[in-house]
Amino acid sequence: MDGNVRPESMARITTKEQADAFIAEQIEIIKNQVGDAKVLLALSGGVDSSVVAALLIKAIGKQLVSVHVNHGLLRKGEPEQVIKVFRDEMDANLIYVDATDRFLDLLAGVTDPEQKRHIIGEEFIKVFAEEATKQEGIKFLAQGTIYPDILESEKGIKAHHNVGGLPKELDFELVEPVKLLYKDEVRVVGKALGLPDNMVYRQPFPGPGLGVRCPGAITRDRLEAVRESDAILREEFAKNGLEGKVWQYFTVVPDFKSTGIKDGKRTFDWPVIIRAINTTDVVEVTVEHLDPAFMDHLVERIIKEVPGVNRVLYDFTPKPPATVEYE
Ligand code: XMP
Repeated sequence: MDGNVRPESMARITTKEQADAFIAEQIEIIKNQVGDAKVLLALSGGVDSSVVAALLIKAIGKQLVSVHVNHGLLRKGEPEQVIKVFRDEMDANLIYVDATDRFLDLLAGVTDPEQKRHIIGEEFIKVFAEEATKQEGIKFLAQGTIYPDILESEKGIKAHHNVGGLPKELDFELVEPVKLLYKDEVRVVGKALGLPDNMVYRQPFPGPGLGVRCPGAITRDRLEAVRESDAILREEFAKNGLEGKVWQYFTVVPDFKSTGIKDGKRTFDWPVIIRAINTTDVVEVTVEHLDPAFMDHLVERIIKEVPGVNRVLYDFTPKPPATVEYE
């Protein structure tokens, strides 16, 4: 039987009991597969890799070596949360690599969106491979491949990074415990494993991170404006009961400045663009129309708290014609 095909008899996991049964079964499978060897995992803090990490920690404890690479394009508080949840609370064997300077130095002056994505992807694999080669006794590589990744790769829609995109030097046997699960099932399993809600139910976040929300050549100050405005937006959406209701929301800081006025003096600063969208399949996307008073509050906070910003804009464009991300 093809291990990459979900059997028709497999029931959709929707309850804690089903998730617990899945977890118990996978723990046995993982233990049998791995023995006393070590397993490596690139832990981004996203839903899929976090669930795989939690599952493997339960199965093999410190035999799992998780590597969290901070490419400098993560959202505010993300690396801290990964360290808190996995190292402090689950006592995991977690290697944290702050590679911010490496990435930002390479990206300096690069304006082409595809080239930016390429640099980020390549460098990520390089940093991860460097950490991997420092470890002894690694025989397996765990991945958060999920069923839609397999289906999309097979149909040739996209070569998913979890499927076949590995560097040759990382020639390890794969451990992919959630590869037959759909996203909603991965979340149920994550919840049953005790992961925090904001990790399990978090909105999609692209691999190149805030890099695609800082269009054109990334500079540290403009990237900070993206990160700070994104943090304010997320905090306000959570406070106002919109977290989990709106599919995806974020800010973009484009590479131009406009004239403004503050304390009677001229300013010349960036705008922050707010994007909030809903979708089921990401092929077609509609715009969330926010309450006007809430929008006023967002403008006030962003202008007051984010250095270098004097204007806040709202993106009313559905997909198509616009894509969700700007690059
Ligand atoms: P677009 O911009 O293509 O985005 O309309 C559709 C969805 O995909 C997310 N996205 C990515 N996710 N790696 C990812 O894992 C990426 O490189 C990437 N680019 C876009 C985007 O956030 C949206 O949810």
